[in-house]
Amino acid sequence: MIIAIDGPSGAGKSTLGKMLARELDLLYLDTGAMYRAGALAVLRAGISFEDEVGVADLIKSSAIELTGNAENQKVSLDGNDVTTEIRTLVVAQAASRVSTNSAVRRRMVELQRQMGERAERGCVLEGRDIGTVVFPNADVKFFLTAEPSARARRRFEEDKAKGRESTYEQTLAEINERDERDVARDDSPLQIPEGAEVIDTSELDLDEVFEQMLAVIRERRSAAA
Ligand code: DC
Repeated sequence: MIIAIDGPSGAGKSTLGKMLARELDLLYLDTGAMYRAGALAVLRAGISFEDEVGVADLIKSSAIELTGNAENQKVSLDGNDVTTEIRTLVVAQAASRVSTNSAVRRRMVELQRQMGERAERGCVLEGRDIGTVVFPNADVKFFLTAEPSARARRRFEEDKAKGRESTYEQTLAEINERDERDVARDDSPLQIPEGAEVIDTSELDLDEVFEQMLAVIRERRSAAA
């Protein structure tokens, strides 16, 4: 079973994706982490984001791997654990820029399909193009969204809990900038996949969204049986 979760940042994709993977005993893939690892490689190498060929070549020759399960997903770049390092604002912005590169996207999509197809029981993938490009025939597709203010508030609280310094205003500006780029890019822009269940999480708590998602999955499963 393949479950696709798309949506803008801060809508709850990661938390809910992990909860679903745990509940249904499926592999969990945070595809944004792969773009972040690629972006980190570019930052480390000092290549300009404008250099499309240089960026694509570097990322294609980098080993980007996701290992572990929903509880402890690890991201490695050329054999080194970069799980924590990719969570900075600088890397987030860089990931959004790198993700406009079509050759980079093709490489990531290929890796994601391989991992998803190899997962014996199936997989929950979350990102920006899962239901539209990576697995358009996913068994269940979700599009999670929320008001920018709600998403920025959540991200800000998460950052604060992790000891990162920023303000709510900075977080909101960062989220808006990334969303605009992710929605406006030419290749695989963030959009609602055909047949996706759209859930606005602004006014809902996690458990409410989780229950809604599980209900949709059960309904689709019994319809397919
Ligand atoms: O989900 P995230 O914040 O870790 O994603 C970082 C960036 O990667 C995001 O701004 C856009 C890009 N991305 C993408 O283009 N396609 C995906 N499937 C996942 C992420």
